[in-house]
Amino acid sequence: MKPKLYIETYGCQMNFADSDVLAAILAPRYDRTDTYKSADLILMNTCSIRDHAEQKVLNRLREFVALKKRRAGLHIGIVGCMAERMKDELLEEALRVDLVVGPDAYRQIPDLLDQLEAGGGKGLAVALSEEETYHDIIPLRAAENKVSAFVSIMRGCQNFCAYCVVPYTRGAERSRPMDSIVDEVRRLWDEGYREVTLLGQNVNSYRFGEIGFPRLMAEVAAVNPQLRVRFATSHPKDLSDELLEVMAAHANICPAIHLPVQAGSDSMLKRMNRKYTRQHYLQRVAAIRRYLPDVSLSTDIIAGFCGETEAEHQETLSLMREVGYDSAFMFKYSDRPGTFAHRHYTDDIPEAEKTRRLNEIIALQTELSLACNQKYVGRTVEVLVEGVSEKRGHQYIGRNPQNKVVLFEPTEAVVRPGDYVQVRVTRCSAVTLLGELV
Ligand code: 5AD
Ligand code: SF4
Repeated sequence: MKPKLYIETYGCQMNFADSDVLAAILAPRYDRTDTYKSADLILMNTCSIRDHAEQKVLNRLREFVALKKRRAGLHIGIVGCMAERMKDELLEEALRVDLVVGPDAYRQIPDLLDQLEAGGGKGLAVALSEEETYHDIIPLRAAENKVSAFVSIMRGCQNFCAYCVVPYTRGAERSRPMDSIVDEVRRLWDEGYREVTLLGQNVNSYRFGEIGFPRLMAEVAAVNPQLRVRFATSHPKDLSDELLEVMAAHANICPAIHLPVQAGSDSMLKRMNRKYTRQHYLQRVAAIRRYLPDVSLSTDIIAGFCGETEAEHQETLSLMREVGYDSAFMFKYSDRPGTFAHRHYTDDIPEAEKTRRLNEIIALQTELSLACNQKYVGRTVEVLVEGVSEKRGHQYIGRNPQNKVVLFEPTEAVVRPGDYVQVRVTRCSAVTLLGELV
């Protein structure tokens, strides 16, 4: 029996994908467990995107540290973005962390563990890399969902949006070789997976030699016509017509695009260093709708960024109405040490005002989401079944191509995770479609 590894993951899908890479790197010496109670090594894969995310991790860390006092031999590691951002600060006595390892240094963990076991003190590895993509490591996926998988296709980001810490925690952009991506997707298909989401901070700038993102998408879609293909995240400055053509030409590339806008005014976009205008963004949306009339669009929005005026806030609301987003992730601006905004602007919108603006944005998005979902009522949609929803009284749960969650009642028919079924939508809320099996 090998000792046990517990990984607790925070933040974006990229981190969840990385946790499976960590499990693979450590597989020769640890079995992964899904409870920290029996663990010999606890890794917290952390997020630095907002202060709130970091505070959550630090609170939880205190619990683990308390556990360590009672359990000799338990090791605790902080990996991911907070490790990279805070470095040896995390190794200070009060925290009692044994390992601090940044996103590009995961291969060093076994050596660090050897040192630790030989009594060599605490382990720190935080150098960022220009090459590391972990392309040769087959992620060891946690067993619970065998239908849908995330596949990381690139790492890092060098857009340097003024508010964002990611270029500092995840380093320069680099793409994984196309063959290793396609091989992984083929293997997933063979294992029974029916959906893959290609992941990167800015997938539209994927480039490996001569190969760009549209070509990669076409190759992945060709693995099997029954495999659903998705991707995230897109940057509006790089989303090309060529990609839209490829999407339109492949029925199994899902018509769902996550296109973070962040703000609706040119002045704000400029201060954020987003490198596009409102007009450019709206033209991209128009192109998307031309190629993919049935598309669903989602976005990210920040409320209360440095210097945001009421008029600029109103422009964000008007852009949301103009696009009519299906869904959105909406955040209050959080000042992050090291970013351009932290160094050159003032975080001057009072907390209460940020909250008011965010609430207005959320209320509007709820209306827009409901309106989008109502268009599906009466239609029959194809659902890839993921399982049975425990929370929802044993209804089946799955998604349609537009990535909307669909719930339906069980019938006589045998339905298994990974099946495609037709569901007639009878009702909806702002977040789900409800229907019956046809
Ligand atoms: N404060 C608030 N939200 C942020 N995001 C990125 N940085 C910050 C920040 N400092 C949001 C952006 C991004 C999403 C992943 O998180 O909207 O698209
Ligand atoms: Fe992911 Fe960004 Fe959080 Fe890092 S900071 S874990 S890249 S969301």
